[in-house]
Amino acid sequence: MDEVRERIASARAIAVLTGAGISADSGVPTFRGGGQASGLAGDWPGRGGIADPKARLLGNSSQDDATAPHGPPQMNTPLWRTHRAEELATPEAFARDPRLVWEWYDWRRSLIAAVRPNAGHDALVDLERYEHQRGGRFTLITQNVDGLHAEAGSRHLLELHGNIWTMRCTVCHAVSMDRRVPLPLTPHLPVCAGCGGLLRPHIVWFGESLDPAIIQSAVDAAVSCDLFLVIGTSGVVQPAASLASMAREAGAWVVEVNPERSASAAVHCWLAGRAAEILPRLLPDAWQAGGKGASDV
Ligand code: OAD
Repeated sequence: MDEVRERIASARAIAVLTGAGISADSGVPTFRGGGQASGLAGDWPGRGGIADPKARLLGNSSQDDATAPHGPPQMNTPLWRTHRAEELATPEAFARDPRLVWEWYDWRRSLIAAVRPNAGHDALVDLERYEHQRGGRFTLITQNVDGLHAEAGSRHLLELHGNIWTMRCTVCHAVSMDRRVPLPLTPHLPVCAGCGGLLRPHIVWFGESLDPAIIQSAVDAAVSCDLFLVIGTSGVVQPAASLASMAREAGAWVVEVNPERSASAAVHCWLAGRAAEILPRLLPDAWQAGGKGASDV
């Protein structure tokens, strides 16, 4: 822990990769691993069942999101029990039955709307401020679509798999944000304010490519940082899983925060524990527990 804090204090560029584990302490279930996902995660049915098929399907051009294929028992209606995420989060499913896909996303949005960022998200906001105050660079790369990093206040954020609060026009491709819960889906599905085309979730679905500019920015951040933090990800889904290796090969020191060892072999240091407990302790003393000695970024 002390060495990591020293590395943070001396880093000129920090890059961070987060996965479902950082949102576990907010009550969003992870896909894999036995970490202490406080709140609802342990109670939700379907943990694990959805993960492996997705991992198989996800190559470097096929992604979806990190939050939703599980639901609390009372909301796991027969409709959703009979549809797996990889059956709904595809362009083919949307083309076949856009209403079904929208209803599923509306249900997922309502789950995420009920949770809040935790101390782990907050610590990364503080780390960004700290690094900027020192004139350093900070990039937060996340696989999560729950929007909790942005809600916490992270600024330089790369959402690899998209964001569940955004929509994209299937005709003119304009992207818009809509945080309404529930979404009005009747009598008509959401349409583009500009051209009237059908809107879809602005999420990277199975079989779709990541935004090349976003993944390139993530790679650039990984290979140009001197400290790379890997937080709450099992490290099995590409291309995110390769970022730690890229960072290490380029000379970065790589730290993992996770209750369990992940699949990443690139780690120099493993801090075993929950993100919400570990991350606040990585900041210099003056920045811990509300003693932030800095103005906003
Ligand atoms: P996973 O569910 O694969 O991994 C979650 C990781 O978080 C595991 O390694 C856990 O040990 C760890 N963990 C659990 N609780 C934690 C806590 N409180 N603090 C820190 N770590 C904790 O999630 P991802 O690696 O994000 O993709 O999954 C990557 C992608 O696989 C997701 O974006 C999603 C999924 O299929 C798509 O949906 C495309």
